[in-house]
Amino acid sequence: MTVGVIGGGQLGRMLALAGYPLGLDFLFLDPSKEAPAARVAPVVHGEFTDPQLLKWLSRECQVLTFDWENISVEALRRHATGARRARICPPVTALATAQDRVAEKRLFERLGIPTTRWQAVGSRATLERALREVGLPGVLKTRRMGYDGKGQMRIRTHADALHAWERLANVPLIYEEWVPFECEVSIIGARSTRGQTVFYPLNGNAHANGILRVTRAPYGPSRWHRAAIGYLTRCLEHFGYAGVLTIEFFVRNGRLIANEMAPRVHNSGHWTIEGCATSQFENHLRAILGLPLGSTRPSGHSAMVNLIGQMPERARLLEVEGLHLHDYGKQPRPDRKLGHCTLVEPTASRRDRLARQVLARVAPGVRLP
Ligand SMILES: Nc1ncnc2c1ncn2[C@@H]1O[C@H](COP(=O)(O)OP(=O)(O)O)[C@@H](O)[C@H]1O
Ligand SMILES: [Mg+2]
Repeated sequence: MTVGVIGGGQLGRMLALAGYPLGLDFLFLDPSKEAPAARVAPVVHGEFTDPQLLKWLSRECQVLTFDWENISVEALRRHATGARRARICPPVTALATAQDRVAEKRLFERLGIPTTRWQAVGSRATLERALREVGLPGVLKTRRMGYDGKGQMRIRTHADALHAWERLANVPLIYEEWVPFECEVSIIGARSTRGQTVFYPLNGNAHANGILRVTRAPYGPSRWHRAAIGYLTRCLEHFGYAGVLTIEFFVRNGRLIANEMAPRVHNSGHWTIEGCATSQFENHLRAILGLPLGSTRPSGHSAMVNLIGQMPERARLLEVEGLHLHDYGKQPRPDRKLGHCTLVEPTASRRDRLARQVLARVAPGVRLP
């Protein structure tokens, strides 16, 4: 059984590592010769939109999935679907919605999931209207292609908005209210092609400069978890989803406000590799292959710390008792996710103490909230 994966980044690499014990084979498509998945699986190098390669991949594999959400929906629909082609999971409709922040917001509203106030911005006139109706402060984001805080600017004043408009112009934008949140959380769940669902404990996420820095789980009171599961279930059912789906939320006055969704395994779920009976990566594979889903029972209190920009010295990190290190084998670059490490501890206080030790080694100055 061969799983085709479009995108050979660290998420794809961890998918392959989770799939080998199940007896699965993998074929990746990625333009980069340095794709992290290439160290562990065969990678075909080419553009994500290459008609011949997409056709070939969807004939060679039993199922096609993706580890990056900015691949071309049009190319997938045109070249990778049809008779004698692999099933694409998660569904392309979910991918299309998640690629456009406006479509995503409309879906949340349609499904009764609380989200931020927003307006689509395509001109100076619609920008002015958005500022009037949504108000200040806010954030102006590109509708498409944003990730790790890229393509967005905080707006405190009218002058900020004009400046951001100059900087981001020529692509469709969305203006959102700025949410003065107490914390950020995310929920990760999986739905199989047979309709079975499982949900992971809630993740508590801390970002720096729009990039995820630390995740702790299980996190927050059980009513947050129940609310998040309810919202995620609506999305899973709406799409007739297969695979792992994530929703990120702001928590304000004890209530969940949906920020965005990701139709794939998620950085805030990396801790599940060591911290849960079945990882998000394994459950994604089980879900898209129609296999029974695995238990999401946590084995303790977990923390995941991202390694960003520069890899710390390996031995210094491994000194921390119980630490699990994941090095994606990427070239260092500012703001680039190069690896992560996970701690799984019997108590939350011990976990937080060790997580602070790790942060002091990898990002002095960043505090655990
Ligand atoms: N409307 C907002 N109010 C407050 N913080 C925000 C808002 N939008 C984004 N952020 C902050 O920026 C981070 C990244 O933004 P997000 O919309 O999730 O984009 P990305 O696709 O880059 O992850 C969020 O996790 C949050 O910390
Ligand atoms: Mg995000």
